[in-house]
Amino acid sequence: MVRRARGEPFVPQTYHPGLVVLSCLIAVWASYDALRLAGRTSVADVSARPIWLIAGALAMGIAIWSMHFVAMLALHLPVPVSYSVPVGALSVVVAVGLSAVAFTLASRDVSGGRALVAGAVAGVAISGMHFTAMAAMRLAAAVRFDPSLVALAVAIAIVVSGAALRLAFGMRRGTSGRGPWLQAGPALLMGGAIVGMHYTAMAAAHFTPAPAAGLSSARLVTATPELAITVTLGTAAMLAMAELGVIISRREAQVREGEQRFRLLVNEVQDYAIFMLDPAGRVVSWNAGAERLKAYRAEEILGEHYSRFYLPEDVAQGKPERQLQIAATQGRAEDEGWRLRRDGSRFRAHVVITAVHDAAGALVGFTKVTRDVTELRQTEAELAQYRGQLQALAARIESAQEEERSRIAREIHDELGQALTILKLDLGWLRANLPRRPAVSRRIRAMDEILDRTLDALRRLAADLRPTVLDQLGLSAGIRSFARDFEARTGVRTRVNVAAPDIRLDRDLATTAYRIFQEALTNVARHAGARRVDIALHASPEEISLEVRDDGRGISEQELASPGSLGLLGMRERARSQGGDVLITGTPGRGTIVRATLPRRAQVRIAG
Ligand SMILES: Nc1ncnc2c1ncn2[C@@H]1O[C@H](COP(=O)(O)OP(=O)(O)OP(=O)(O)O)[C@@H](O)[C@H]1O
Ligand SMILES: [Mg+2]
Repeated sequence: MVRRARGEPFVPQTYHPGLVVLSCLIAVWASYDALRLAGRTSVADVSARPIWLIAGALAMGIAIWSMHFVAMLALHLPVPVSYSVPVGALSVVVAVGLSAVAFTLASRDVSGGRALVAGAVAGVAISGMHFTAMAAMRLAAAVRFDPSLVALAVAIAIVVSGAALRLAFGMRRGTSGRGPWLQAGPALLMGGAIVGMHYTAMAAAHFTPAPAAGLSSARLVTATPELAITVTLGTAAMLAMAELGVIISRREAQVREGEQRFRLLVNEVQDYAIFMLDPAGRVVSWNAGAERLKAYRAEEILGEHYSRFYLPEDVAQGKPERQLQIAATQGRAEDEGWRLRRDGSRFRAHVVITAVHDAAGALVGFTKVTRDVTELRQTEAELAQYRGQLQALAARIESAQEEERSRIAREIHDELGQALTILKLDLGWLRANLPRRPAVSRRIRAMDEILDRTLDALRRLAADLRPTVLDQLGLSAGIRSFARDFEARTGVRTRVNVAAPDIRLDRDLATTAYRIFQEALTNVARHAGARRVDIALHASPEEISLEVRDDGRGISEQELASPGSLGLLGMRERARSQGGDVLITGTPGRGTIVRATLPRRAQVRIAG
């Protein structure tokens, strides 16, 4: 490539194409790194921002400088070229310093005209570096510049680098963590600004032969291919290091963000006290829930031993230490008990202590999660109390009912039974003393039969109301007798198996068992369609169990769960009033089993 200055004696400019390409690559790559480094300011801590700006500015300055240097080495002039080291160094300072200003401006705001201001500074950085570096050249030629092309070069630098900054910093503000491809746009623009400025400015330069001045100074370096290689490798190494820095800082930022998010999550939990203890049991962290629950602020409690949350008697018994020991040996310790707030008031706490180990397996401390369960336990206790009261009430109603039935049975037996018996005796007297006429005899016989039937009915009624058989012969005999009647009445084969024939039971308990049995057997007759019923009565010193098993259609889940099943409900209520329970299971087509279990020492369970 040869450029000629118009109308003047000239030194022809020839470029080495490979080095020109290399200069372009250096410009883009270094710009990419520079923008990435400076861009970290938007995610870094405030204190770390200046460091990233300086790193970005350094990369940018070196980008401009090494691009310029390689491009100048690409230029073949017919005279040997040397550079003044001090002026060359000054050009670097100009590039880095102005880039720092440009990045600072861009990192604050790139909207509207501000991008132009930042771009102007970046443009001046690029141009300033260029012309300072041109002034560092020592050669047997004079340089003259075409002003309009110089103006164009500066304009390119300003506008294009402004666009690059706007794109780079505007994008970061919008979305963080975009992929490297999206960062290539701004880097290409910035590289373009540097390259465009350089080669336009070189087109503006006209070299004319002139006597060399100051070529003998010791502070000169000669432009050689080796120098080009050294500068390129040095720049590449520096840029690679910069990239490494960005990657490491990204990783660290991600870890930090994760930790911060987790800390926030734990800190903001209000319903649980979540804090950490060191291996000795001293508090090392404190969250909002802990502050709410225990009323200590973090600064009051950090470093204190956690035993201060325990009651003095628990501390005296070594409970806090024991809990840590369990957690350390078994991994975790769970406990529920009374704990103290800062003001000395108590609350019921559910506590889980978990041991925390490091990667090598050494114990580094404990996490402790505490929940206030005072209200929950209070409600549970109240509920249990209500349940107990309800059962007691049911038992009272049950026994009142039985008493009332007994009274009516007695009345029927004593009053009506007596009266009918007297009537029967009187009827006998009439039969003996009235004239023996067939019509009278017939009437008297009919009356006698009615009287017998009524007496029978009365006896049955009384027996139903008050199964005296229980009092006289006990539960097993009562069950046998009812089963016999049942078989006779329904034709369903009924087998009774009594494992403890001579059990003597408390009257209420026997009545309860008998009523449950009656209801179960009545249900078989009414609903099961069974051919056979097996009844088993077992007694141990602790409890009696009664089982009625039929081979009918089997009760369904819906029937079992139906709130309208008052007979089933009554069985259960009766059993519970004695502290026992009734279990009913049905298998479709195979039958139903009703199993009642009643504790011998009848007591109403108060607690749930
Ligand atoms: N042994 C059984 N086999 C099949 N179904 C049964 C059996 N026992 C009960 N059931 C079913 O369960 C339902 C509920 O029984 P429950 O004893 O509560 O009521 P009921 O016998 O219909 O009326 P009552 O309140 O007069 O006892 C019955 O209607 C019946 O459908
Ligand atoms: Mg029933």
